[in-house]
Amino acid sequence: MRVLSGIQPSGSLHLGNYFGMMSKMIAHQEEAELFCFIANYHAQTSVSDGKQLAKGTLEAAANFLALGMDPEKSTFWVQSDVPEVQELAWILSNFTPMGLLERCHSYKDKIVKGIAANHGLFAYPVLMTADILLFQSETVPVGKDQKQHVEVARDIAIKFNNEYGEIFTLPQPEIDDDVATVPGLDGQKMSKSYGNTIDLFAEDKALRKQIMRIVTAPIPVEDPKDPDACNVYKIFRLFLDKEQDQALRQRYQAGNLGFGDVKQELFETVRDYFAPQTEYRKELLANPDGIREILAKGADKARYTASKTLRKVRKKTGLIY
Ligand code: ADP
Ligand code: TRP
Repeated sequence: MRVLSGIQPSGSLHLGNYFGMMSKMIAHQEEAELFCFIANYHAQTSVSDGKQLAKGTLEAAANFLALGMDPEKSTFWVQSDVPEVQELAWILSNFTPMGLLERCHSYKDKIVKGIAANHGLFAYPVLMTADILLFQSETVPVGKDQKQHVEVARDIAIKFNNEYGEIFTLPQPEIDDDVATVPGLDGQKMSKSYGNTIDLFAEDKALRKQIMRIVTAPIPVEDPKDPDACNVYKIFRLFLDKEQDQALRQRYQAGNLGFGDVKQELFETVRDYFAPQTEYRKELLANPDGIREILAKGADKARYTASKTLRKVRKKTGLIY
């Protein structure tokens, strides 16, 4: 099975990114052929500062490598190092009805938020389609918010295949219902844009501060509490196995559980869970040329696969004459 996903290099990583996408991707290395890239072209829809984008790209690469991405086992690259994707995006634009893009929630949400509508923002799902189809991906692990974009990719692939025969594999989104949406400090979806995140590689003090800000209900300490109604529990359970989860649920239901205490336990759990990765990430970032070398090798591997698909597409569409 071929699995592909990308992540934008914009800003620091949070638990939503990790449990919604990265941990699943990394686990796929064991049983699938994994393609994973840093979506820096996509990030240009929101980042215009070149220095910031370049720095963010190296950091995103370090994040993935620190969390267990193995560049020997998998294909791991930066989107713009494989420019074939832009050519495919153009070709696919001609199979993309305006209505399909106009219906995209992500685009509509951004416009409602007051972000200026431009062509990059509008065409974002077509470039994402090119990412997916160029590598003949079967499975695309994403958070719930990206599901529609994978469906767009599927629709465009079907339209193209109807015209030219079975060129593209039809992709499927993969969403783990258990962590479909990781809640943030306020119970809404955890997201950079809501300022409600718990960050993966934060310093201890900052991490503790974020966790202490989790919103809880004003219930007296001695009263029994419903774990499923508690934002602290909803985040904590992501770190627990079945038995630990049951034990925590019982403590909630028994009463005499203070939210401050559970928050402190959650802080220690998150800190310890990511401690080795945080160390390794620091080492990687101390040698950016080492990261660049890994990414250059990854881009070579990715281009090999990409050029096979693109050659077929160029031939069918008459670009090879
Ligand atoms: P943000 O909303 O913070 O800007 P991104 O849009 O950059 O996050 O998301 C990167 C990846 O992480 C995507 O695959 C997205 O679906 C996933 N993701 C982001 N936030 C969450 C969340 N709260 N729960 C589950 N997955 C998430
Ligand atoms: N749009 C995705 C996000 O913001 C990132 C992305 C770009 C992606 N291309 C992709 C994800 C292809 C999966 C497949 O999270």
